[in-house]
Amino acid sequence: MLTIGSISVDPPLVLAPMSGITDSPFRRVLKELGGCGLVFTELISSEALFRRHPKTLEMLRFAEQERPLGIQIFGADPERMAAAAKEAEQAGADFVDINLGCPVRKVVQTGAGAQLLRDLPALACILAGVRRSVRIPVTAKIRAGWDAASINAVEVARVAEEAGAAAVTLHARTRHSGYAGKADWRWIADLRRAVGIPVIGNGDVQRPEDARRMLEETGCQGVMIGRAVLTNPWILRQAWQALRGEPYRNPTPRERWQVFLRFLAIAREDRSDRFLLDRLKKFSCYFTHELPGSSRLRNLIQRSARLDDLLRAVEDFLAQSGGGPAVRCPGD
Ligand SMILES: Cc1cc2nc3c(=O)[nH]c(=O)nc-3n(C[C@H](O)[C@H](O)[C@H](O)COP(=O)(O)O)c2cc1C
Repeated sequence: MLTIGSISVDPPLVLAPMSGITDSPFRRVLKELGGCGLVFTELISSEALFRRHPKTLEMLRFAEQERPLGIQIFGADPERMAAAAKEAEQAGADFVDINLGCPVRKVVQTGAGAQLLRDLPALACILAGVRRSVRIPVTAKIRAGWDAASINAVEVARVAEEAGAAAVTLHARTRHSGYAGKADWRWIADLRRAVGIPVIGNGDVQRPEDARRMLEETGCQGVMIGRAVLTNPWILRQAWQALRGEPYRNPTPRERWQVFLRFLAIAREDRSDRFLLDRLKKFSCYFTHELPGSSRLRNLIQRSARLDDLLRAVEDFLAQSGGGPAVRCPGD
């Protein structure tokens, strides 16, 4: 059972924030597929919000059917962070999440993201300011530590808990390891034992059964899934079925493509064809990676100069392959 403040997250399966991917249309499609108890926005810069950057302001927007939703913010300046949190609350977020795990150099150089794992007094100050500025729950997303020699997820989470955080998500890797190597779920188990607030475990849930295994092995209250969603958008729904001991089915290539068409239909309401072409090129590489003959299809997709060309290329491919056999999912 995962409860954040007064919000119960059911099922306790969470879509990870992924910059450049989990925008509002993507989140809506994932919610429609089922099994997704909670979503986060991509990380949003408190500095860019302060400067009223139009694209950043756009990132605060979401649809009612995405709830419950956390708006994730990052930054190093306590006042700007407090103001950004207030803005997230005014935008209607169910809670505000503080990014303490982003490993990107551009972000850590400013003292934000994972850099705050190394400066607990600064972190405490930011969290206290954010907590005071809003009435909605505040959560934090952390990594296990800066590097293998400085694992401090428990200390960081305790600082967050003392500052009034309502939950903490742990991506069980260090900043130094980026996305390499294997996530070490023992850090999630250690954290779960050390703090009173709910812990959401994250890192390398690749198959639907992994979610159940993470809950059982670590005792965490929720499971967050990121990259696996890209190649298998059904994984949250399948994980939910696996949690209930039910069998689940793998999607066919056509069903996979229909998910992207659904994304397109939603996104077309307010996105340009140019934006959609770029986004679909990115997505369709994920979508195609397990299809027989997919390198030819990927070539066609990448050469498409217009959205319609891309859609036709995929439709022709699917027609020729008769919709294709059910593809192998990460859950197989
Ligand atoms: C392309 C990409 C973008 C990401 N953007 C964010 C982000 O905006 N905020 C954040 O907290 N984590 C971000 N992450 C990290 C994920 O939320 C998650 O912690 C990580 O991918 C590990 O989970 P997984 O093994 O299930 O993918 C990103 C990861 C990827 C691959």
